[in-house]
Parts: sequence; C-alpha cells; structure tokens
Amino acid sequence: MEFKRTHRCTELSAQNVGETVAVMGWVQKVRDLGHLIFVDLRDRSGILQLVMNADDAEIYKIGQTLHQEYVIEAKGVVRPRAEGMTNPNMKTGEIEIEVSALNILSAAETPPFVVSEQTKVNDEMRLKYRYLDLRRQSVMHPLEVRHRVAFLTRQYFEENGFWEIETPMLTKSTPEGARDYLVPSRVHPGSFYALPQSPQQYKQLLMVSGMDRYFQIVKCFRDEDLRADRQPEFTQIDLEMSFVDVDDVIAVNEGYIARLMKEIRGVDIQLPLPRLPYSEAMRRFGSDKPDTRFGMELCDLTEVVRGCGFSVFASAIENGGSVRAITVKGGASFSRKEIDALGEYVKTYRAKGLAWISLAETVKSPIAKFFSEEELNAIITAAAAETGDLILMVADKNSVVFDALGNLRVHVAKKMDLLDENKWNFLWVTDFPLLEYNEDEGRYTAMHHPFTCPRDEDADLLETAPEKVLAKAYDIVLNGVEVGGGSIRIHRSDMQAKMFRAIGMSQEEAVERFGHLLEAFRYGTPPHGGLAYGLDRLVMLLCGCSSIRDVIAFPKVQNASELMTAAPSPVDSKQLEELGIAVTASEKTE
Ligand code: AMO
Ligand code: AMP
Repeated sequence: MEFKRTHRCTELSAQNVGETVAVMGWVQKVRDLGHLIFVDLRDRSGILQLVMNADDAEIYKIGQTLHQEYVIEAKGVVRPRAEGMTNPNMKTGEIEIEVSALNILSAAETPPFVVSEQTKVNDEMRLKYRYLDLRRQSVMHPLEVRHRVAFLTRQYFEENGFWEIETPMLTKSTPEGARDYLVPSRVHPGSFYALPQSPQQYKQLLMVSGMDRYFQIVKCFRDEDLRADRQPEFTQIDLEMSFVDVDDVIAVNEGYIARLMKEIRGVDIQLPLPRLPYSEAMRRFGSDKPDTRFGMELCDLTEVVRGCGFSVFASAIENGGSVRAITVKGGASFSRKEIDALGEYVKTYRAKGLAWISLAETVKSPIAKFFSEEELNAIITAAAAETGDLILMVADKNSVVFDALGNLRVHVAKKMDLLDENKWNFLWVTDFPLLEYNEDEGRYTAMHHPFTCPRDEDADLLETAPEKVLAKAYDIVLNGVEVGGGSIRIHRSDMQAKMFRAIGMSQEEAVERFGHLLEAFRYGTPPHGGLAYGLDRLVMLLCGCSSIRDVIAFPKVQNASELMTAAPSPVDSKQLEELGIAVTASEKTE
C-alpha cells in the first residue's frame, strides 16, 4: 500500500466535498464510458463511486484493467456528483471521488458468482465460497449485530457485578442429554475428553469457589440432528449467580433483555415480562415455547365428546388421552387439498389423523356421520367457532395432542401470515415439572438436569408423588423460540440424595458420574442458580433471520459438515496410530 486510508467508503458525505481522501476496497462494478470510467468501490461499510478521467492517461490506463473483486487503493478529491447523477438510495449517493492516484493491491480471478445482493446463489455454493458470500452487505450485517450483542452483553453483566471466566473445552461429559463430541487423548490411550455441551458443572463449581456472579460467552458442542435453530457447535451466553432465588435471576435477565432490545432494535420492552406456568402454556398453546403474537389457542373437547360414537375419539379418551382443537378464523376457505396437507403435517408429530369441521355456508366434516346434530353443535360451541371458521381436532395421548396441535397452530399462522414481525413477545415459562416419566426405561428422568431444585412447597412430594413436583426452572421465549433456559440448583446434599433416588440413580452411579461435584458441594455451597441463552438464536431473531446459519460466519450444513474446508475429514494413519485408534467403519464413497 502506498497510501494511508483516511476513510471507509460510506464515512464520506457531501460534508467532505473538497477534501483529499484515500480509500481502499473491492471493485464492485466498472462502467467504462469511453472518456470516463466509473468504479463502485466496496468495503465493509458500503459503496462509494470513484471516477477516472481520460485526461489523466496513467490513471485511466490502470482503470481500464480493473475487474470485479480487484482490491485497489485510490486517492482523490471528494466532489458533488453532476446534476441529475445523484442516487438517493445510496448513503454516498451525492458524492464521488475524482481519482488522482490509483494502485491495484491485488487482482482477482472471476469469482464463481457475482458478489451482489441481486445474484441468486444456491446454499451449497454460498457456503463453499462463504468468504465471497460474506462480502455481501445483507450477509455481513448479522455478524455486525452479533458483535454488538456480544459487546453489550459484556457491558451489561460487568455493570451488574458478573465476572467473565473461561471454563475448559477439553472436559468430561455433562449430563445434558445430547451426544458428546469426543476428543481422543494421546497420553491416555483409550481415554477421551468430551467437548462441553454447556459449562453447567464448571459454573456451579465457580459458585462453590465464591465467584458470586459468573458469565461467559462460550462455545458449546452437541452431536444432535441439525435444524434451522440447531447447530452442532453453537454459542451460549452462560451465567450463574450465588445467594439468589428465581425472582433474582429473572430480574437481572429482564434488565438485560430490555437493554438489548433498546440498543439493538430501538424497542422499549414492557417489564416485568409475562410469566406463564408450564401447565398453562401446554394447555393454551400446546407448547412450552408459545408464540403469543396471535390467538388460535387450544380448546379441550374431551368432556364434550366423551362417550360419543366416533371410536377414534372414544378410545383416545378411554386410554387416558384427550381430544383438543384449534379454531382457524376464516379457515372455511381452505380447500380440501389444503386441509389434507394439514393432516399430513400433524402426522410428522405422531398424530394418527386430523379431524375437521368446516363452517362454510353448510357444515362440512368427514366425521359428521359419527355425531348427532346436537353433539356437532356442542363441539362448535365449545370451539367458539363461527361461520367461516375451520375446527381442527386431534385425539390421542396428551403429549401427542399438544405436540401436534401446538405445531399446527404455528404452521397455520405462518400460512395465514399472522406472524407480526414488529411484535417482540418475550415471556418466561416457569414451574416446569422436575421429572418426566421415561416409558422406555421405566423410570423418572430429570426434565432439565438432576441438579435442578424443586419448588420449596413441592419438596416433600419428591418421595410420594414425584410426577407432581414442579421445579424452580424457567425458560425465556421470544416469538415462539426458546432463546434461553435455566434454574435454581440444588445446593444441599440431603435434597440431592432425594433427587437421585427419585430418578432411580444409585449412590454408586451418582458418585461415578458426578463425584467431583458432589464432593465439592460438601465443603460449603451457596444457594445458586443461573441461565444460558442461545446467542445464535437471539441474534437470529434480532436480525429477522429464519435460520441460525445466517448469523454464524462459517456454519455447518445438515449433515454436520463444513463445506468450505470439507471438515470432517479422514486423518493420516500415523495420527490414528499415535492415538491408539483403529477405524472400523468408514464412510462409503458413492
Ligand atoms: P439448554 O440446554 O436449555 O440449557 O441450552 C441453553 C440455550 O442454548 C440454546 N441451544 C442451542 N442453540 C443452537 N444450537 C443448539 N444445538 C442448541 N442447543 C441449545 C437454546 C437454549 O435455550 N446448562 C443449561 C443452562 C442452565 O441451566 O443454566 C443449558 O445448557 O437457546
Ligand atoms: P377414519 O374413520 O379413520 O377414516 O377417520 C376419519 C377422520 O378422522 C379422518 O379425517 C382422519 O384424519 C381423522 N382422524 C383419524 N385419527 C384421528 C385422531 N387420532 N385424531 C383426530 N382425527 C383423527
């Protein structure tokens, strides 16, 4: 470089007219008009127009060799654009640089796709050449937001007395439930580290060590199936506090959310945020992460149809299940094909079918034949349906009914364009069950993790009616996405022993899996609790993106590979030998 950069492209405006400046960046576009060459210069900030005049033969000659994505430096005077040449859609649309010195810093081969917002590129190509993809403003923007969120997070938690403390990446597995990524140890052949699924145990140990308030922006690893809101490697904003109960953790985090929304989106969030007990969330929305931007709440028809002649409904109820419905306002306009597609949709949530009543001018329903007119009217009344509406019903055991209708509710809302992008419906879901019954294993398991504290008033039920015990656990939900979750932890060994007994874990097993933690708890443990946000999900929502891939610089694809570097990849046999590892199954080459 011969020049020293004075400005980024869009830091210049009409106020700089007359100044001599030096700018650097990529050539977005070249227009050669014969006697004038216009170049759109791009950097991180945006685009600036350069002009090269044929009167300056030397510069004009260099100008003629420029192509897209060349990296150049240019010096010149800022001048207003000619009459009628201004561009109100551009930040720098009133000005241009009359180039008086120009150097090519590096030439570029023709890229595999034109770097422009207008170019349609398939996902595979985008990710293979992610560094080119990222040159586009719209692709780059979420990373800027992400940076601001991380910065603000550090600021907020520092102001509130939290210390950022790093915890190990090479560790022992945490009991969080997903599969671990394992790292073989060379010095301990046959032994493996696990990459952390979360720093859960370490942050609790930091409370035992008296750190009082901890936070960390930290990578977590979970070998689970990818989805739009799941990556195998993702980032948590993780925190833990001592001498607190539920309300204290919630208060600190509401302050954080309000600050974030104000500074990132300019939105004032009403505090305190609504709190919805888990049981109510399930009953009304069929989900523990309800999207409350629209109605269409679930309605329980069990009592209305009990003893009816439709065997599907009757047997679901006899088996302890229920019949529930959602009423789609204006849904009577759905075609038969559309309704059938909804029926297929609920099958992905294990529902066996979708019964419906369409209230067009006449009442249409494939199950009408099983009901008397009074019974049908009773259903319509219970579902609060009017002419023009569509009632969608599922009968099954409760877990299936909730899952199917909860997801269907959001699916239909999307289809009908009911999801208002300008609404920011944060809420807490609280009072989760402490345990859930695992039918395969024939025992209770911890719904969150075995260190979650039961509510004080439920503690005695742990031995007599474990299914009734509610936990001091809370999730924070934004527009139907779980953006974070946490709990108050058990800090006394008598309660911990009860918990292990409730999930059928022997003392030996507990010691084998969590010995280090249990031992630590014996040396003086403050009451403590915390929470972790999914940073990727938070930024995704703040940017209005539909996948967390869009807010990660180098994301992984569906099959957990990274297309640019082609990771994961086979390794040298020498590397494996050193680790004492033999590979028995390798991927079949097609
Ligand atoms: P949990 O498992 O609920 O809690 O994780 C916290 C938050 O992390 C995000 N998240 C993910 N984001 C992207 N990809 C994934 N695969 C993924 N998995 C989880 C979610 C989730 O709400 N140790 C506890 C927290 C605590 O109790 O303090 C924990 O990890 O937004
Ligand atoms: P069938 O008599 O099995 O053809 O079912 C009649 C209607 O009931 C069809 O529209 C099915 O989709 C629906 N249906 C079947 N099983 C269920 C179920 N478990 N819950 C709700 N509707 C169902």
